[in-house]
Amino acid sequence: MTTPILQVRDLRVSYGGVAAVKGVDLSVAAAERVCVIGANGAGKSSLLRALVGLEPLAGGSVIWRGERIDHLPAFERARRGISLVPEGRGVFPRLTVQENIRIGGHARRGRSMAADIERVYSLMPRLAERRLQLAGTLSGGEQQMLAIGRAMIGAPDLLLLDEPSMGLAPMMVQTIFEVIAGIASAGVTILLVEQNARLALRSTTRAWVLDGGRVMLAGSSAELADDPRVRTAYLGD
Ligand SMILES: Nc1ncnc2c1ncn2[C@@H]1O[C@H](COP(=O)(O)OP(=O)(O)OP(=O)(O)O)[C@@H](O)[C@H]1O
Ligand SMILES: [Mg+2]
Repeated sequence: MTTPILQVRDLRVSYGGVAAVKGVDLSVAAAERVCVIGANGAGKSSLLRALVGLEPLAGGSVIWRGERIDHLPAFERARRGISLVPEGRGVFPRLTVQENIRIGGHARRGRSMAADIERVYSLMPRLAERRLQLAGTLSGGEQQMLAIGRAMIGAPDLLLLDEPSMGLAPMMVQTIFEVIAGIASAGVTILLVEQNARLALRSTTRAWVLDGGRVMLAGSSAELADDPRVRTAYLGD
């Protein structure tokens, strides 16, 4: 691997003294597509939230482009080009599509909001057609697109996605993953978290298996998809 753009060392997250992430190491190269898979409660969301500054670290470090960022507030990390599409989408139902997208737009200085919004619409034309519709009236898949659009507004270099396939029909899952592939092919680094291990391993080149807050296995996504332990525990084979 070339010099990593993101390095996570011995990362720990605790809730009221109860450890949820127990010392995770991972590194990601620029423009790479990687995933973290794991069952309910494995610590996947806690890991992503800690990376963007929404949970405090109980230990360890996060290094972004050679700089430690784990002491920085969330907006400073966003400004440096790290963006999260949260689990459950988190759209504001009573705001329009366009208003929801604009909310993501304060992250990076010196960018044109109008141009960034148009870029999001060209990525997901369905959002453009619905720009004045209230977000609460969108389908689940459209809300997922909106959550991605809001995260893309500041033109991030690293996009973290927390369970983008959750609750969506297979056709819509495919559409969402085509959008993610389009973002990746434009050079954005992708760190995907999924319970849908089959899908996640198919759409990435490297993967980590998280279990009980610890990395149990790591390797190329193709190797892990063939690993008997992964097949039994996560692929239902
Ligand atoms: N705000 C919180 N307060 C207390 N405990 C929490 C909190 N958030 C998560 N936890 C606990 O931390 C552990 C890891 O949770 P986390 O949400 O990170 O897992 P996950 O892998 O994302 O699970 P899922 O696949 O269900 O989304 C779980 O035991 C969970 O109950
Ligand atoms: Mg989660």
